[in-house]
Amino acid sequence: MSDIELSGITKTYPRGAAPAVRDVSLTVADGEFFVLLGPSGCGKTTLLRAIAGLEHPDAGTIRLGDRDVTGSAPRQRDLAMVFQGYAVFPHLTVYDNIGFGLSMRHEPKAEIDARVREAAGLLQLDDLLERYPSALSGGQRQRVAVARAIAVRPSVLLMDEPLSNLDALLRLTFRSDLKQLAKELNTTIVYVTHDQVEALSLGDRIAVMRAGEIVQCGTPMEVYDRPATRFVGAFIGTPPMNFLPVTISRDGGRAVGRLGEHAIRVPDWISGDTVLAGIRAENLAASTTEVPDAMPGRVRVVEPLGSQLLVTVAVGSEIVKLLTPNDFPAADDQRLWMTVADDKVRWFSPDDERELTEERATSAV
Ligand SMILES: Nc1ncnc2c1ncn2[C@@H]1O[C@H](COP(=O)(O)OP(=O)(O)OP(=O)(O)O)[C@@H](O)[C@H]1O
Ligand SMILES: [Mg+2]
Repeated sequence: MSDIELSGITKTYPRGAAPAVRDVSLTVADGEFFVLLGPSGCGKTTLLRAIAGLEHPDAGTIRLGDRDVTGSAPRQRDLAMVFQGYAVFPHLTVYDNIGFGLSMRHEPKAEIDARVREAAGLLQLDDLLERYPSALSGGQRQRVAVARAIAVRPSVLLMDEPLSNLDALLRLTFRSDLKQLAKELNTTIVYVTHDQVEALSLGDRIAVMRAGEIVQCGTPMEVYDRPATRFVGAFIGTPPMNFLPVTISRDGGRAVGRLGEHAIRVPDWISGDTVLAGIRAENLAASTTEVPDAMPGRVRVVEPLGSQLLVTVAVGSEIVKLLTPNDFPAADDQRLWMTVADDKVRWFSPDDERELTEERATSAV
C-alpha cells in the first residue's frame, strides 16, 4: 500500500515571515494521481519536499502506507522525485542518467536496459541515449529527469512542474502518455503544477492551494463546476469564471435580483441584500438581436481562439467574458443580449467570497 496521509503540516522557513505551508492535511489514495495546483509561491514545492523528506515540517505528521515517515530520511521512503528545474547528472550520458537509480540498486543489466529503453521511448529520448546533458536542450534535459524517475518504478512518484520546459505539442502527447503510464504502473503520484489545464487533464483529484493552505480538494469536475471560493473559480478555467455583483430586494418571500438595470433570477434561499453571481463563460448564450429578459451588454474585444471566439462584453460597469462558436457575428461596440440557465449560476458571498449553497444557508438558520 502506498497511500499518503498528511496531517497538520506546517513549515516556516528560517527567515520567512509567514508559513510557506500552513496546517495542511490531505490523503492521497494508493495509485491515485493527485495534483497540487496553485499560483507561484503558494507552497507547492515546500509541501512536495516535505513528503519527500527533503524539508522537515515544524508540525504535523506524514504517513506513507502503514509507516509514519515524519522523521525518516528521503531514501527510506521508497519514492522518486522529479525536481522543479530538472537536476540531471552532467557527467553521465542520457542512458546512464535514466538508469542511475536502478544501478544504485544493483539491478541486473538486462533489466536496467529494458527499463531505460522503455522510459526513453515514452519520453521520446531514444535517439539521444549516448549524449551528455550539455548537448541537450532544456526540454530534453527535463525529459531525462522524468524518465529517470519513472524507470525506478517507485511506489510513490513526486513531480514538480515536470513539463514546464516542453513545447506545447510535446506537453500534450506526454500528458496523455503519463496518465496512461500512471494507471499501468499503479504508482501513487503527487504532481505539482501552476497550470490549471494540466491539473484538470491529469488529476484524479486536485488540491487547490493559496498562500500555504488548501482552499479546495476535489475531482477536476468538482473544482471546475463547484468552486468553493471566488479564488478557485477565477484560477481554474480559461477564461476565469465571471463574477457579477447582484443587489437583492424582497417582494414578500421572493428575492428579486438586479444587475444594474437588469433583472436576474436569484434563488429565494439567498439572504442578505447583495450576492456575487459566478458564471462560466461557456454558460452564457449570446445573441446579437434583442431577447426578452436577457442581460444587455456591449462588445469590447473579440479574440478568435480557433474553434471559439472569446468575447469581452461590458455590462454596465462590469466586464463579462463569454465563449461563442467561431462563426458568431460579434463585432466591436456591438450590442449583445446574454442569457444563462438558472442551474448554471453559482452564488458567492460578497464578504468572504465563499460559495453559498442552499444546504449551508438552511443549516445556518
Ligand atoms: N529556502 C527558503 N527560504 C525561505 N523562504 C523560502 C524558501 N523556499 C521557499 N520559500 C518561500 O516559501 C513560499 C513557498 O515557496 P514554494 O517554493 O513552496 O512555492 P511554489 O508554490 O512551489 O511556487 P512556484 O510555483 O513558484 O514554484 C514562498 O513564499 C517562498 O518565497
Ligand atoms: Mg515550486
